[in-house]
Amino acid sequence: MGAPGSLLPLPILLLLLGGAESGSHSLQYFLTAVSEPGPGVPEFTLAGYVDGQRFVEYDAEAQQMRPLAPWVREARPEFWERENQVHKLRQTCFRGKVRSHEHLYNQSRGEKGSETQW
Ligand SMILES: *[C@@H]1O[C@H](CO)[C@@H](O)[C@H](O)[C@H]1NC(C)=O
Repeated sequence: MGAPGSLLPLPILLLLLGGAESGSHSLQYFLTAVSEPGPGVPEFTLAGYVDGQRFVEYDAEAQQMRPLAPWVREARPEFWERENQVHKLRQTCFRGKVRSHEHLYNQSRGEKGSETQW
């Protein structure tokens, strides 16, 4: 479920982490989309981790990133604008993926004549 991301704002994060001692850091985003959202089950969720520590999460309803770690709260408005933009795109992209996978699944089910429910 890890998100291979070409759109990650890595340079900005590296700037934020600039004060840290040299060495490799990890940046991970976990994205989840569901085909049938409901109460307590949002259509799309996203959480970002630096070195295994959750530092941001995405509020899919407000379409805005929320800072969790103290160091990221100090980021400039431009950072949040870009984050919101990128993850809004991801939300849209994931919605499309869920539909196309559902479509493929339905198609294959039709060909095989299986009774399985999506
Ligand atoms: C797939 O099948 C389900 C159940 O028959 C249906 O509710 C859903 O709309 C279908 N999805 C697509 C993308 O065709």
